Amino acid sequence: MDLHLGGKKAVVTGSSSGIGESIAKRLAQEGAAVVIQGRNEKEAQRVAADIEGAGGKAMIAIGDLSTDDGAQRVVDKALTELGAVDILVNNAGAYPVLGWMETTPDQWMQLFNQNVVSAVRMIRLLVPQMKKLGWGRIIQIASAVGVQPMAGLPSYNVTKAASINMTVSLAKELANTGITVNTVTPGTIMTHGWEEWARGFAKTRGWGDDMAEIERRAVQELLPNSVGRVGRVNEVADLVVFVASPLAGYINGANLRIDGGYVQSVN
Ligand SMILES: NC(=O)c1ccc[n+]([C@@H]2O[C@H](COP(=O)([O-])OP(=O)(O)OC[C@H]3O[C@@H](n4cnc5c(N)ncnc54)[C@H](OP(=O)(O)O)[C@@H]3O)[C@@H](O)[C@H]2O)c1
Repeated sequence: MDLHLGGKKAVVTGSSSGIGESIAKRLAQEGAAVVIQGRNEKEAQRVAADIEGAGGKAMIAIGDLSTDDGAQRVVDKALTELGAVDILVNNAGAYPVLGWMETTPDQWMQLFNQNVVSAVRMIRLLVPQMKKLGWGRIIQIASAVGVQPMAGLPSYNVTKAASINMTVSLAKELANTGITVNTVTPGTIMTHGWEEWARGFAKTRGWGDDMAEIERRAVQELLPNSVGRVGRVNEVADLVVFVASPLAGYINGANLRIDGGYVQSVN
C-alpha cells in the first residue's frame, strides 16, 4: 500500500532508541525525511546513519525536551534542516520503576515534565507552522497503563493518562485546520528500556536471567494479554506510519491501542 508519505517531513522525539527509532526508520522507508531526536548524540548518529545507509533521508537534533531551551534548539534545528515539519511524533519518555511510597513529590513533577510537558513544548513550537501548511499530523505515544494503571508505576501511569487526554483537547482546538491529533497506546513492547525494566522485576521474583523466560513470565504473571507475548517495535511503527499518512485523514482525537489485548475494556 502506498502511504503517500514521500516528501513529508517528520520529527520523531526519542528516536535515538527503541520504539522511536523504529518509527523513524519506517517513516524514512516510506519516503519521509526524518529528524532523529534524543539526548544521546552517538545513538542518534547511529540511527541516522542506518537510515542514510538504507537510502533514506535523516538528520539529527539533540536536546533535552524537558527544558524550554532544549525543545527550542531541537525545533530550530529541524526547521533549519527541513524548512517545515508536517509530522510530529511525541514519543520521548521514561518509565522508572518507582512505587507509590518511594516516589517523592519532586519525582512526580519531574516525570510529568519529561513525559508530558516535553510533548506540550514541541506542540506549541510546531503547530503555528503546521497551521500555515494547512496540513499536519501529531501523534502522542502513550501506554496501556495510562488506561489500566499498574500499582508499581503510579507516576508513569498518570503521565500516559495525561497524554491520551491532551490529544483530545488538542484535536478539538485544531478543528478544521487540516491537522489531526491522535494517540497510539502500546502495551508492553520489547525495547532495550523494557528489557532493563523487566530484568529489574525478574530479579525481585526469581525468574532468572533468560530474556525469553522473562518475557513468558511477564506476560503470564505481570502484564497478561490475549496474544500471549510482548509486542515488537516494528508493530507499533507500522501503526504510527499509517496514522501519520494522508490516508488516515478521518482519524482524529482517537486513542489507538496496540497492546495484544492487555486493556480489559471495550475501548
Ligand atoms: N517499551 C514499552 O514497553 C513501552 C510501552 C508503552 C509505551 N512506551 C512508551 O514509548 C516511548 C518509547 O519507549 P522505549 O521503550 O522505546 O524507551 P527507550 O528505548 O528508553 O527510548 C526513550 C527515548 O526517549 C528519549 N528521551 C527520554 N527523555 C528525553 C528527554 N527529556 N529529552 C529528549 N529525549 C528524551 C531517549 O533519548 P536518549 O536516550 O537519547 O536520551 C530515547 O530516545 C516512551 O514514551 C514510553 O513511555 C513504551
